[in-house]
Amino acid sequence: MLLQDKVAIITGAGSGLGRAQAIEYAKEGAKVILNDVNAEGLAQTEQLIKDLKGIALSIVADISNKEEVQDMVNKALEEFGTVDICVNNAAVLADFKASLDITEAEWDRLMAINVKGVYLLTNALLPHMLEKGKGTFINIASIGGTIAGVGDAAYITSKHAVVGYTKQLAFDYAKKGIRAVSLCPGLTDTAMVRYAIDEEHPAAVRQVAAIPSGRIGRPEEVAYFSAYLASDKADHINGVEMKIDGGQSIH
Ligand SMILES: NC(=O)c1ccc[n+]([C@@H]2O[C@H](COP(=O)([O-])OP(=O)(O)OC[C@H]3O[C@@H](n4cnc5c(N)ncnc54)[C@H](O)[C@@H]3O)[C@@H](O)[C@H]2O)c1
Repeated sequence: MLLQDKVAIITGAGSGLGRAQAIEYAKEGAKVILNDVNAEGLAQTEQLIKDLKGIALSIVADISNKEEVQDMVNKALEEFGTVDICVNNAAVLADFKASLDITEAEWDRLMAINVKGVYLLTNALLPHMLEKGKGTFINIASIGGTIAGVGDAAYITSKHAVVGYTKQLAFDYAKKGIRAVSLCPGLTDTAMVRYAIDEEHPAAVRQVAAIPSGRIGRPEEVAYFSAYLASDKADHINGVEMKIDGGQSIH
């Protein structure tokens, strides 16, 4: 199995891509620490993993809160003794708003979760990973981390920041055994975007029409790719952004 005996922490695991990745990682042999602010979603993910005879520990914590993040890492280390992989997945979207339509409060909240949350959890884990000389970060960015037009002004900014942060992490720590990769999905069928597609939101409809493969992605497809990128088979992939988007970003 790709992730046999690895310990992985996955944020935003109560829904969508976080849940799909948690299940796939568990199927590939990893012990998973599931994080979300949504306790109910988290409990459902944990049950799905336990039904597969996987090992999962749920921790409710807000990734934009430094103390909660540190407590989560302490609990994970107490329970499993190590963390090998961190999937910085949790994020929020401010619909498809242009800059003038986004309030300062919305901007600050989005940046606190999508950008600062990634930095906080990374920094809480790095000392442990550097001490053992190995650690992997899969940072879920988006094709919106490389192009415009696939989200709101704050979201696109935040995802470009995640791509940049990931590059610098690899630059600073690769020689010390750290890998950091941005995984950039195109439009994928989760709660984050489903409302817009179901309601035929003009921005979402435009995006779907522009996907060369003619369909949106499935969460499991992102999860398979993520499990590979987190595995030792991907050892020479570092700092770069990897897209999975049915060709959505090629034009
Ligand atoms: N669905 C898509 O089309 C798409 C495309 C590109 C990238 N992404 C990215 O994939 C990742 C997962 O998104 P998704 O589509 O599964 O969305 P989702 O809304 O289904 O899941 C996001 C999860 O993050 C959790 N969360 C929100 N704020 C949190 C916080 N402060 N602390 C901890 N957890 C928090 C939510 O409760 C939710 O369970 C995000 O980074 C998103 O930007 C999604």
